[in-house]
Amino acid sequence: MEFLDLAKRRFSERNFDKTRPVEEEKLAKILEAGRIAPTACNYQPQKIYVIKSEDSLWKAAKLTHTYNAPVVLLVCYDMNIVWKNVREDGYNSGEQDASIVASSMMFEAEDLGVHSVWLRGFSSKLVAETFELPENIKPVMILALGYPNGETKPSPMHSTKKELSETVEER
Ligand SMILES: Cc1cc2nc3c(=O)[nH]c(=O)nc-3n(C[C@H](O)[C@H](O)[C@H](O)COP(=O)(O)O)c2cc1C
Repeated sequence: MEFLDLAKRRFSERNFDKTRPVEEEKLAKILEAGRIAPTACNYQPQKIYVIKSEDSLWKAAKLTHTYNAPVVLLVCYDMNIVWKNVREDGYNSGEQDASIVASSMMFEAEDLGVHSVWLRGFSSKLVAETFELPENIKPVMILALGYPNGETKPSPMHSTKKELSETVEER
């Protein structure tokens, strides 16, 4: 399938079947797509927590709506490893590194027929407390994964995309 067709097919799934796990071999491929993603200076500061036990899923669902996903990936970066910009005080590439890792995993999931939704409606502080993250590990997003519970369709937001002319210009 052409990448653009895959990208157009993907939508945020918000109605997972919690009784249908993601196959281990598919999960391994999804994580592999994240492993090989580009990162600033190739420092690979990402840290991914696989959350699939009932107890951990329950904890995750208290932090943000996870839509009954049977597996969620908590994507973080490590402050001790991340690239820091000497030309801009206080700037590091952690959010970008984690996001490209997460995007790669999201599209690999789609390619495998596994639905997903990107989640950020959580408090980083509560995530760190709940999952006892070390001080240097910074949460960026949660990628919820799974199969839909029966009939599913994209939310209206999926088709409300701006025209290129609104977001792209030549300088
Ligand atoms: C940075 C980011 C944060 C998001 N946070 C949430 C979230 O917390 N909860 C949620 O249901 N969807 C969340 N989404 C999904 C967006 O709402 C969704 O991608 C957007 O509405 C377009 O819909 P589509 O993904 O179906 O094309 C987030 C997406 C991004 C990129």
